[in-house]
Amino acid sequence: MIVLVGFMGAGKSTVGRLFAEAVRLPFTDSDEMVAERAGLSISEIFSGSGEGLFRILERDAILEALDRGEGVLALGGGALADPGTRAALTGHTAVYLKASLRDAMARVGTDLDRPMLAMDPEGLYRDRTHLYEAVADRTIDTDILTPEEVVERLIDLVVIDLAKAEVHRVVVDTAGGRYEVQVGRGLKDDLAARLPELPGAEKAFVVTHPNLAALAEGPLRSLDEAGFEADVAFVPEGEASKSLDVAGALYDWLARSHAHRADLLVGVGGGVVCDLTGFVASTYARGLPVALVPTSLLAQVDAGVGGKTGVNLPHGKNLVGTFHQPCAVVCDVDVLAGLPVAELRSGMAEVAKYGFIAEPGLLPLLEENARSILAGDPDLLLAIVGRSVEIKANIVAADEREQGVRAHLNYGHTFAHAIEQVAGLGVDGDEDARRAAPPPGVRHGEAVALGMMSAAYLSAELGRLDAGAVETHRRVLDAVGLPVKASLGVDELEPAWQLDKKYRQGVRFVLLNEIGVPEAGVEAPREAVARALERMS
Ligand SMILES: NC(=O)c1ccc[n+]([C@@H]2O[C@H](COP(=O)([O-])OP(=O)(O)OC[C@H]3O[C@@H](n4cnc5c(N)ncnc54)[C@H](O)[C@@H]3O)[C@@H](O)[C@H]2O)c1
Repeated sequence: MIVLVGFMGAGKSTVGRLFAEAVRLPFTDSDEMVAERAGLSISEIFSGSGEGLFRILERDAILEALDRGEGVLALGGGALADPGTRAALTGHTAVYLKASLRDAMARVGTDLDRPMLAMDPEGLYRDRTHLYEAVADRTIDTDILTPEEVVERLIDLVVIDLAKAEVHRVVVDTAGGRYEVQVGRGLKDDLAARLPELPGAEKAFVVTHPNLAALAEGPLRSLDEAGFEADVAFVPEGEASKSLDVAGALYDWLARSHAHRADLLVGVGGGVVCDLTGFVASTYARGLPVALVPTSLLAQVDAGVGGKTGVNLPHGKNLVGTFHQPCAVVCDVDVLAGLPVAELRSGMAEVAKYGFIAEPGLLPLLEENARSILAGDPDLLLAIVGRSVEIKANIVAADEREQGVRAHLNYGHTFAHAIEQVAGLGVDGDEDARRAAPPPGVRHGEAVALGMMSAAYLSAELGRLDAGAVETHRRVLDAVGLPVKASLGVDELEPAWQLDKKYRQGVRFVLLNEIGVPEAGVEAPREAVARALERMS
């Protein structure tokens, strides 16, 4: 729980409410809770029963709120006078919103429901300041800041700092399996210690690319030292490896090595390796456990989490696949140091997507820190990977098989997949093969950025999104170096939509009704799609 403490007038309730909204957490105000439970205003409780009883009611309310788990809680200015309340804050993140007495008094004005105002404010301020300082994990000086600016500081302090915890563990709880995604630094080299118990597992089969051999060494050594008979297979780099041919070669390897159903497959690589290894693990011998060590940003925040596996057919991407949850996912952000910056940018598209569909508070974090993120700042990477994994884990837990909210993760992707297909045309070679494996003219994340921009324009065309929200898309995507303009037409994209496995009686889009409020399965008139695409040029 994130707990805001500070003197009356420091802005705990206003800021708390805005912050909770931005990070999509429930908000509780202890004063409101006490008044609601008693059916009386704070002043009425004070005048009727005195401060002593009020503090008891307040402590009970606070303990109950802290018990609820994740959320933002604003404490009344005098709550810390109670030793029980102070002790209960252990293990929670307390942020002191500091205001000078003059500013605090100016903000409070003559609020009639503040009985403590009748006392000596200077003395109170002096006595309470040391209590706030004693419990605070972080302090924000609010004097010269607007509430929105305090919220931005809070996002920086709390979201980033929480991610610095040694290993950030996110549980993904689905009918298909319950497992941990561990996010941290230097985690891959003791992979074996990060796995759940695997009864009967004797062998471990690691799949990676030749260019990632050095990254796979640590996990291999760790498996070997833990007693696994560990072996490695290298698959060619690139989307072409997501094929039945490459899957077939891996089946041969497993058969030759006498793999049995309790043995473990491990994918060390980007989304291509994760999708392929997961697919082979789910189909060989009717299913082996798989652990993933995603090494690209895109795979850490998206492809490695959620259990979708697949390979491509010449007719289209991911046409053969399964749902097969991994037994563990280890996101070691240190490996991102070697990732080409273009791949880092590509992954940022999926991070921005989480901001657009679920957590608007991520967007200012990305926009303001884009340069440092792209330069590989590990604290920022920890923060964005950790939060993205949490968001994806919540969505997957609510809808593992994409029958409802999981479809929101496809925001921008209807356009993006078609853009990827179109990018494949105009290159020599067999057209079907190009469909399945578009050349690297446009990276997945770049296509997703263009797709989200198109979806934002289409949402605006249909009266769902205002111009400011469309501009937010443009600014954030542009800040992280992703494309926001392209010359696209419906005639070009339509054939690709007809090949899409989600195409039923026509193309349907995930659109936004406002930032953070997506809606899936929206039909759009062809003219509106055409106008949206025109605005992209
Ligand atoms: N299953 C899902 O839910 C899901 C979600 C999103 C995307 N995907 C799939 O993911 C794939 C795209 O993933 P991607 O963008 O990671 O592509 P990728 O796997 O091809 O990796 C991109 C490039 O980065 C290199 N690389 C990866 N990690 C590296 C590191 N640490 N250092 C240096 N180089 C590194 C790879 O060798 C490759 O050349 C697509 O096939 C897409 O369909 C799947």
